[in-house]
Amino acid sequence: MDIRQGTTRMGKVLVVTSGKGGVGKTTSTAALGAALAQNGQKVAVVDFDVGLRNLDLIMGAERRVVFDLINVVQGDAKLAQALIRDKRIDTLFLLPASQTRDKDSLTEEGVAKVIGELREQFDWVICDSPAGIERGAQLAMRHADVAVVVTNPEVSSVRDSDRIVGVLDSKTVRAEKGEVVEKHLLLTRYDGSRAERGEMLKVEDVLDILSIPLLGVVPESREVLRASNLGTPVTLGSPGSAPAQAYEEAARRLRGETVTTNTGRGFLGKLFGRRAA
Ligand SMILES: Nc1ncnc2c1ncn2[C@@H]1O[C@H](COP(=O)(O)OP(=O)(O)O)[C@@H](O)[C@H]1O
Ligand SMILES: [Mg+2]
Repeated sequence: MDIRQGTTRMGKVLVVTSGKGGVGKTTSTAALGAALAQNGQKVAVVDFDVGLRNLDLIMGAERRVVFDLINVVQGDAKLAQALIRDKRIDTLFLLPASQTRDKDSLTEEGVAKVIGELREQFDWVICDSPAGIERGAQLAMRHADVAVVVTNPEVSSVRDSDRIVGVLDSKTVRAEKGEVVEKHLLLTRYDGSRAERGEMLKVEDVLDILSIPLLGVVPESREVLRASNLGTPVTLGSPGSAPAQAYEEAARRLRGETVTTNTGRGFLGKLFGRRAA
């Protein structure tokens, strides 16, 4: 399956996490995965949200699911049998979650093996985490090199993000080896006028509380819902829309580019350069 036969990649493992549910993790996994793949990176998005299985819907692949992560973890299917290649971008793949099976069938050993294999075949392995800070979320972040902490501009979401940062710093393989997981803040569902009216936190308020650097600010937008109802990541379904642009810029920052932003021109742009406290 590797197009560069005979070579082994050492891809990056990225977890999209938050603590709180419903903040935009799955939306962000699909959009960042698609944006990275549209730029030629070989990407696997992996659904760790066993029981809910949302990522395949947003990726428009729900009818193509045959085998899933648990099948591969348990050795009932090979990785190549379970990976679904995107019909629009041929460097984008999905490893779906199981809808029916018990979460406990995801063993730590099994996950380590699957992530190890994925790392060899892909540039990016993007793990969509379930909500919470318990076992399922810890398995999703276990092997992460990079974490995107998805946060909404409200106090409860920021508080949960703060807790997840603590878990990233203690329960991951990197933390146990005395290394750090690179952390990025992705502020989603942001509504500038509501923030101005004091109905939501402002970007700088969130940055003051969470001491991790800003990867992007994704505005609240109907385009997101429209795209996911059509089974397309928003960067593909509504290219050029404000949320798509924010995700594209975030993907470029993940690749290490310094992006002078459209969405963050002027005052917002300065916040990107700000160093973590
Ligand atoms: N930027 C946005 N603008 C509007 N709605 C959004 C945005 N991001 C996410 N949503 C919506 O919020 C809901 C939860 O998103 P989802 O990605 O499933 O969150 P999670 O995976 O964290 O539970 C979905 O209905 C999604 O369409
Ligand atoms: Mg989700």
